[in-house]
Amino acid sequence: MSETQVIPVKDKIASSAHVDAQSYEEMYRRSIEDPEGFWAEHGKRIDWMKPYSQIKDVSFGPDDVHIRWFADGTTNAAVNCIDRHLPAKKDQPAIIWEGDDPGEDKTITYGELHRQVCRMANILKARGVTRGDRVTIYMPMIPEAAYAMLACARIGAIHSVVFGGFSPDALAGRIEDCESTFVITADEGVRGGRKIPLKANTDKALTKCPGVRHVLVVRRTGGDIDWHEDRDLWFHEEFEKVGDDCPAEEMGAEDPLFILYTSGSTGKPKGVLHTTGGYLVFTSMTHEYVFDYKDGEVYWCTADVGWVTGHSYILYGPLANGATTLIFEGVPNYPDASRHWQVCDKHKVNIYYTAPTAIRALMREGEEPVKKTDRKSLRLLGTVGEPINPEAWMWYYKTVGEERCPVVDTWWQTETGGIMISPLPGAIDLKPGSATKPFFGVKPEIVDTNGNVQEGACQGNLCIADSWPGQMRTVYGDHERFIQTYFSTYPGKYFSGDGCRRDEDGYYWITGRVDDVINVSGHRMGTAEVESALVAHKKVAEAAVVGYPHDLKGQGIYAYVTLVAGEEPSEELRKELVQWVRQEIGPIASPDLIQWAPSLPKTRSGKIMRRILRKIAENDYSNLGDTSTLADPAVVDDLVENRMNR
Ligand code: WT7
Repeated sequence: MSETQVIPVKDKIASSAHVDAQSYEEMYRRSIEDPEGFWAEHGKRIDWMKPYSQIKDVSFGPDDVHIRWFADGTTNAAVNCIDRHLPAKKDQPAIIWEGDDPGEDKTITYGELHRQVCRMANILKARGVTRGDRVTIYMPMIPEAAYAMLACARIGAIHSVVFGGFSPDALAGRIEDCESTFVITADEGVRGGRKIPLKANTDKALTKCPGVRHVLVVRRTGGDIDWHEDRDLWFHEEFEKVGDDCPAEEMGAEDPLFILYTSGSTGKPKGVLHTTGGYLVFTSMTHEYVFDYKDGEVYWCTADVGWVTGHSYILYGPLANGATTLIFEGVPNYPDASRHWQVCDKHKVNIYYTAPTAIRALMREGEEPVKKTDRKSLRLLGTVGEPINPEAWMWYYKTVGEERCPVVDTWWQTETGGIMISPLPGAIDLKPGSATKPFFGVKPEIVDTNGNVQEGACQGNLCIADSWPGQMRTVYGDHERFIQTYFSTYPGKYFSGDGCRRDEDGYYWITGRVDDVINVSGHRMGTAEVESALVAHKKVAEAAVVGYPHDLKGQGIYAYVTLVAGEEPSEELRKELVQWVRQEIGPIASPDLIQWAPSLPKTRSGKIMRRILRKIAENDYSNLGDTSTLADPAVVDDLVENRMNR
């Protein structure tokens, strides 16, 4: 028997939910035993221009990796998110926008969304953007970010959204990699009362990107910006020059919808490519079932559109379902720690979806900021992005949800497109800290390091044995890297990079990354990226970066830095390096701790022994394992002696 607490599904919830325990088991079994039949049926949940006759065409290798779903069908994502709802929902809110300032908000009906998206699409078209072109979107959390994404989808352009917190360099790298010719941004963003110079960052980035012809600028703050007459366009001016009518492109199910860059264990960020039909089927279906979404409900996902959560569960999934989706410009603690709950009360939010790091930060503020709000509209709570500790889970469940709202802990990745392992609120008993059971069509396997599939209760590396419609199709421009990264470690399976335990009830418990990727406040960072930013500094000879447990962030960034000969460590230099990394990548990559390392522990062949560095950073230096293969074992003593995380 497991000692973990189990929170059974309440009868009242099961009876009104999309699926109860029995129908989950039946549907799940069918989805695995007869994927063709299952998806042939559920693919119909979106509108197709030309219906599909093919369902699944997949090979996970070894020679050839290809993934195609509904391949001969045609559709358009914007039509599914907007036009098809117009007959019934023209005047229903599609987007509720809540500004950074509590006094500012705006409601956009489906009818208005249609008009805005068509106009934005016509602006792009008028400036030469066509089907297949890449458009980079570098925006704050304002409705125009959604218009921009949907406008691309409408005309068949591929959007690449870059998180507004990334630096000019990071933006430039992402523009260059996919050879974008068009950028959409705002003059400035506003978060927590502070301005973010998006246009100035874009200007800096574009000094390195000669291929960009136009920058479309949305006026958010009216702040001072530089203007390049031949290149820059004001959105509000262009808006007046175009019409409301924009026929949607007929896209193949496998035509690209978007690229989204994400960090891996090596090299520069990968352009994860998602296509149209399968992605929309999977995100809309998971949104409906996991959140048990019912027509007319107000749904709020607190992510930024710069991350996949924003793509799948602020925009595409909810809008494909005709939901009202809330877009919040601000942060949880501005003007005070009650803000999120005030927003819930103000807009009568029914479903609230956030990250464990936000929950932990709010939990630290105590109950008072929560209790002074009503929250009676809330019906369901969700989390995503990193493992949630049972203590934070219980606080969320009891204090925020008053034991009325089920908590769905949803495990998935940029690569998976949508939710893979999660409770279904009417069907699956909850265990705090566990993502529980697989969604329909998802076949998890836990393998040991030799690739042997483990049965029953076990622990190991999490793979997915077969394809699902929302799966990424390739790394943009580098299919070989796609195969190498995801299908070569355990041939024939998709490898997630996560460790996982399965308990005696068949529940999955994600234990975190097993590769050199760290998860800082739910944001994914490749340690290699932070390292290359550090060594780009002229005083740094060598750097190794690992994660360590951090109370609020989940993981913090711990950097070991070796200076070039003749440079002296100092507090100033430490600050300078933190600042440097912020500038190179963005604030989310700031090292939390920097340890000066006279040298790094290496094998005789010169490979850095990260296992040891991880242990020291975790303050678990008593058991460093076998150090006999080290070129110079004394290096370790110095590192332990001067460790930063005591
Ligand atoms: C990595 C993916 C999925 C959207 C946000 C992050 C971790 C994600 C959970 C969860 C434990 C989780 C994994 C995964 N992760 N959700 N519910 N429990 N870990 O997307 O940036 O692609 O990161 O986030 O380690 O591999 P991402």
